[in-house]
Amino acid sequence: MRNFPSQIDDMVHTAAEDTTVSIISTFFLAMVLHPEVFQKAQTEMDNVVGTNKLPTFEDRDSLPYLECVFKEVCRWNPAVPLGLPHRLMVDDVYRGYHIPKGTTIMDELIKMDNSWPTSSTFLILGQSCLDQPQLGL
Ligand code: HEM
Repeated sequence: MRNFPSQIDDMVHTAAEDTTVSIISTFFLAMVLHPEVFQKAQTEMDNVVGTNKLPTFEDRDSLPYLECVFKEVCRWNPAVPLGLPHRLMVDDVYRGYHIPKGTTIMDELIKMDNSWPTSSTFLILGQSCLDQPQLGL
């Protein structure tokens, strides 16, 4: 990182820090509002990782409930709901709409996957992976 031009350095720090702080803050809010979800995630973590070491990326596949919590946190309050602006380098056609070269487009991330619920509530029951019995909690 030390050899990067300073604008790239700034850009990567901005991309990494605001997003990470935002998602972690949302996670804390969700866990305060839903302590029963926190308790299940903590139980899973204790069962899989134990209490004497920190988790590693190798543990991730063995933490399906926590993975669900993370996905629901990202869906509930996405850190970058409108993505980043992108400028078309050439003319394009999307669903019959002609979009001229040079147009700046913003994407609405939550609308890009129709299988995602659009509820503004943190979903524990019915619509998210958090109530799937195969998680074994
Ligand atoms: C929860 C954390 C994060 C979220 C929600 C997030 C979200 C995003 C989103 C939505 C984009 C725009 C994608 C696009 O429209 O093309 C993006 C781009 C980017 N992110 Fe992240 N990001 C996160 C963490 C990070 C971290 C930790 C880093 C660096 C260590 C990082 C570096 C970048 C960079 C460099 C780009 C621009 C990629 C490109 O188009 O060239 N992000 N991120």
